[in-house]
Amino acid sequence: MSTTSASGQSLTLYGGTGTGRRVTTRDLLAAKQRGERWAMLTAYDARIAGVFDEAGIPVLLVGDSAADNHLGYDNTVPVTMDELLVLVKAVVRGTRRSLVVADLPFGSYQVSVAQALENATRFLKEGGAQAVKLEGGHRVLPQVEAMVEAGIPVMAHIGLTPQSVHVLGGYRVQGRGPEAAEQLLRDAKALEEAGAFAVVLELVPAELAQQITESLSIPTIGIGAGPHCDAQVLVWGDMAGLTPGKTPKFVKQYADVRSVLLGAARRFAEEVRDGVYPGEEHSYH
Ligand code: KIV
Repeated sequence: MSTTSASGQSLTLYGGTGTGRRVTTRDLLAAKQRGERWAMLTAYDARIAGVFDEAGIPVLLVGDSAADNHLGYDNTVPVTMDELLVLVKAVVRGTRRSLVVADLPFGSYQVSVAQALENATRFLKEGGAQAVKLEGGHRVLPQVEAMVEAGIPVMAHIGLTPQSVHVLGGYRVQGRGPEAAEQLLRDAKALEEAGAFAVVLELVPAELAQQITESLSIPTIGIGAGPHCDAQVLVWGDMAGLTPGKTPKFVKQYADVRSVLLGAARRFAEEVRDGVYPGEEHSYH
C-alpha cells in the first residue's frame, strides 16, 4: 500500500521520498502504521546487495545464514564475527538505500551483555551496518535493552532460532500448542518493550504470527510464518533458485539462477575446449 503526503509526495518505504538516503528504523515503524508491507532479503556480498538495493528491497540482512549459503559450512553455528564483518562491510559498500542489518553469530552475544555490546558495536563502527539482529526471547532481553540504550538498533528473532538447532532437535515449526504459543507471544511483547525495532518470526503457525503482528506496534518479519506479518524475509539463494536440493515449503522461488549459471559455465568450458572462445572479436592486435 502506498500513501500520499500533504505535498502529494508518495510515501513508500524505498522509492517515495526521493531523498536518496538509506531507509531507517523510523521509516519501518511508519510503514507499519500506514499498513505498508515490505520485503527483506539476505545479502552476503557487494555485487548481489547492489542488485537488491537497485530493486528496491528496503532492508538487507547480512545473516549468519552466510555460514551455509556463502561460506560452505553445514549450519550457522560455526560462523564467526570476523567472517561476518567482512561480508557486512561489502554489503554496506555495495548499497546506497537499503537499511543493512548485521546478524550477531552464535557465541557473540550469549556470554554477557558486555560481549553483546562489544560485538554489536563492531558491526556498526567497523562494518558500517545500521542495525544488528540476534536470536532469542526472554533470555536475551538484557542484551537488547543494553544495546538499544547504547544507541544500537536491534532486530529480534524468535520462533525457530537456527543457532539453537542442537537444543531444538532440528528445523521444526515452533509455537504449536497453547503454552508454546503463549510463550512466543510473551517473548515478542517483551522484546518490543526492551526496545527492539522489529522481530523476525521464523517457522511459526500463521495464526500465531497474525496474533503477534496485531499485538505489536513494531513490525513483524515472517519467514515460514504465513501471510499476515508486516514484512517477509527470504534467504536470497532460496528466493532466486541458487540453493541446491529441496527447499522448505515456505520458500517461493522467483528465478532459476542455478540453472542459468550452470548453463553459462558449461557453455564457456565447451567453447574454450572447442577453440570457439576467445574469437577474433575478443582479441587485441
Ligand atoms: O541468517 C538469516 O538468514 C536469518 C533469516 C532467515 C531471518 O536469520
